[in-house]
Amino acid sequence: MRIGIIGKGTVAQALAASLGTTHDIRFGVRQPRSQDHGTLPDVAAWADAVILATPWRAEADVATEIAAHVRGKPVLDATNPVVGAQHGPDVAAIDGAGSAAERLQSRLPGAHVVKTFNQTGAEFLKDPGALRAKPAMFAAGDDEASRRIALALIADAGFEPVDCGPLANARHLESLAMIWIWQAIKGPLKRRFGFALSHLPTKLPQKDTDQ
Ligand SMILES: NC(=O)c1ccc[n+]([C@@H]2O[C@H](COP(=O)([O-])OP(=O)(O)OC[C@H]3O[C@@H](n4cnc5c(N)ncnc54)[C@H](OP(=O)(O)O)[C@@H]3O)[C@@H](O)[C@H]2O)c1
Repeated sequence: MRIGIIGKGTVAQALAASLGTTHDIRFGVRQPRSQDHGTLPDVAAWADAVILATPWRAEADVATEIAAHVRGKPVLDATNPVVGAQHGPDVAAIDGAGSAAERLQSRLPGAHVVKTFNQTGAEFLKDPGALRAKPAMFAAGDDEASRRIALALIADAGFEPVDCGPLANARHLESLAMIWIWQAIKGPLKRRFGFALSHLPTKLPQKDTDQ
C-alpha cells in the first residue's frame, strides 16, 4: 500500500520505520528535498492512505493543503491536541465533548478520518517489540473499510489492533494519550510503558452473563 505520511518529525520517521518494510512510504513536507519526499498535496494525491503526524497547531493549514487529495481515502490521525508538550497534557486544546479527530474530519469532509497511532510514544511506534507485552493500538473511525485498513496497518506495525468503533470514540483515545503524556512528563512511569490488553483464556466456556 502507498502510505503518505504528513510531516517528517519523530512520529513520521518512527511509523516509516515500522511500516516501511511492508509498504511504500513517502513524506509530505513543506520543502521536499529527496525522492521519498513531496509537497503535502502531491503526497496526499499519490497515497492510498495518509497518516497525519504534524503538531496540533498545524492542523488547519495541513487540512487545507490536503483536502482536495484525500477524498474517499483513510486519513489516520496520529496527532494529539496539546499545544506545548513540555507543559504536559494539562494544556490540551480540546475541552469537554468532541475531539481533535472529529474536528479534523469536519475540515476533511470527503476523507475517512481514523484516530490511531496517537496513544504511545514514538519510540514504541518505531519498535513496539521493545515492550514486554505486545502493545495495543486502538482505532476509531466512522468508515468501516477505512477502519479495517487502519487496523491492518496497526498489525503490520507490530501492535495488537483494537477496533474502537465510530469516530465519536476518538475523544477517549485522545484522553488515553493524555494519560500516556502525563506519565511521560510528570508521572512515575516516565516514557517506559505502553498500553496492552489482557484477555480471558479463549477456551473458557461462554456464560450467558458474559455480555
Ligand atoms: N512524539 C511522540 O512521542 C508522539 C507520539 C504519538 C503522537 N504524537 C503526536 O504526533 C504529532 C507529531 O509529533 P512529533 O513528535 O513527530 O513532532 P515533530 O517531531 O515536531 O514533527 C512535526 C512535523 O510536522 C511538520 N510540520 C509542522 N507544521 C507543519 C505545517 N504547517 N505543514 C506541514 N508540516 C508541518 C514539521 O515540519 P518542519 O520540520 O518543516 O517544521 C515536522 O516534520 C503531534 O501531534 C504529537 O502530539 C507524538
